[in-house]
Amino acid sequence: MILKTARLGHPAVRGACAAVPPEAVRSQAFQRFLDDMADTMREYQGVGLAANQVHEGLRAAVIEVRAEASRLRSVDPVPLTVLVNPEIVERSSELVDGYEGCLSVPGLRGTVPRHAWVRVRALGRDGSALDLRAEGFFARIIQHECDHLDGKVYMDRMTDLSTLSFTEEFERYGAR
Ligand code: NI
Repeated sequence: MILKTARLGHPAVRGACAAVPPEAVRSQAFQRFLDDMADTMREYQGVGLAANQVHEGLRAAVIEVRAEASRLRSVDPVPLTVLVNPEIVERSSELVDGYEGCLSVPGLRGTVPRHAWVRVRALGRDGSALDLRAEGFFARIIQHECDHLDGKVYMDRMTDLSTLSFTEEFERYGAR
């Protein structure tokens, strides 16, 4: 089922999310919610989605970069990844600039500095403990989604607002 997304200005986007009780991860209702999040992310051609973007104040996110999107952006594909109660426990000191967009800020792109790599601990879709190190675009998405769960959007992290561009103009004129 495709869920309604909350846009910037809706209190859901700025609300911090509550941890998911570990015993609830495998419940039918939560598993269905994760399916719905994945469906919603794909419907809107996103590469990540956080629960509060679909009006659910829980610490859960889905990430996926399908082959087509990876070619388009010249980044590595990422298989569907579910992060429940994610926590970034280590990060590179090096920051790298890259363009981001967001389903809650439709139609815009902007340059955001992010850690080049992160190590994240979370629960996976089956409730088991995950501990993964990600770099490149995957690391960027993880940071973007973890920010959402704390009520932050990518614009809060931008250091140069002059890089903001509408998607159409971005595709026409390229990155600034
Ligand atoms: Ni977003």
